[in-house]
Amino acid sequence: MRLEGKTVIVTGAASGQGLATARALIEHGASVMAADIDEAGLERLAKEHERIATHRCDMSKPAEVERLVAAAEATFGAVHALLNCAGYLKAASVLETTDEMLDRIIDINLKGVFYGCKYVIPALQRAGGGSIVNWGSVNSMVAESDIAAYAASKGGVLMITKSVAVEYAKDNIRANCLCPGGVRTPMVADFFDDGFLNDEQAQRAYQPLGLIDPEEVADVAVFLVSDESRKMTGSAVVVDAGYTAM
Ligand SMILES: NC(=O)c1ccc[n+]([C@@H]2O[C@H](COP(=O)([O-])OP(=O)(O)OC[C@H]3O[C@@H](n4cnc5c(N)ncnc54)[C@H](O)[C@@H]3O)[C@@H](O)[C@H]2O)c1
Repeated sequence: MRLEGKTVIVTGAASGQGLATARALIEHGASVMAADIDEAGLERLAKEHERIATHRCDMSKPAEVERLVAAAEATFGAVHALLNCAGYLKAASVLETTDEMLDRIIDINLKGVFYGCKYVIPALQRAGGGSIVNWGSVNSMVAESDIAAYAASKGGVLMITKSVAVEYAKDNIRANCLCPGGVRTPMVADFFDDGFLNDEQAQRAYQPLGLIDPEEVADVAVFLVSDESRKMTGSAVVVDAGYTAM
């Protein structure tokens, strides 16, 4: 119960890594304000534990993000951490990327993380400090084909994180960028084909330890919220099964 007494906002909590992280936080004693645009997913999650509250929030809309933070403070009294996990991927080459696709990726992945930080910082200041974990990607640092818009958004997430870390250390606010490699969630269905998703050898050729389960990222997110990581800030925390080592 290393997170007892902490209130954590998790965005993208209805699926994949956000869902696994919300569950892990509950297991370690935290209270969770789960946010997503998927209301049915939030409803299912709310039934899992009395320390979970939910709030429908589109992270690309600043007024909604502001209301999310206010709802978390009103429900639990204080906010100690924000886990900005909501994200969107549409694979396409540079030439195939339409303006609409580019806007959607930047609005959710980059501006959504910026709004999350902007509106949670005053709440963390009121709480005497806290931890922000922004989901980047290995694509915050390295490129692949068919992923330019997404990589641009995730590179930006790393720099938002470092900026927040430098600017708000004075308030005991930490910010770290969690950078996963390929994780087995609904998101990768657009990027990897079924053959790859069922072929362990191919997965190990891509990432030496194979595809990552969302729970394996959630364990690192819990560590980044906990006081065990109290001197970590501004870091790119890579959880990639060896992808960037090659
Ligand atoms: N799966 C991977 O291989 C991988 C690798 C590196 C980084 N990531 C990043 O990890 C994070 C989590 O992704 P995942 O793998 O769990 O995918 P996922 O598709 O399972 O979950 C993403 C969640 O974000 C929510 N969401 C989308 N747009 C939203 C918006 N505007 N406002 C609020 N919620 C919104 C979705 O409804 C969904 O519940 C994302 O930021 C993603 O870019 C994923």
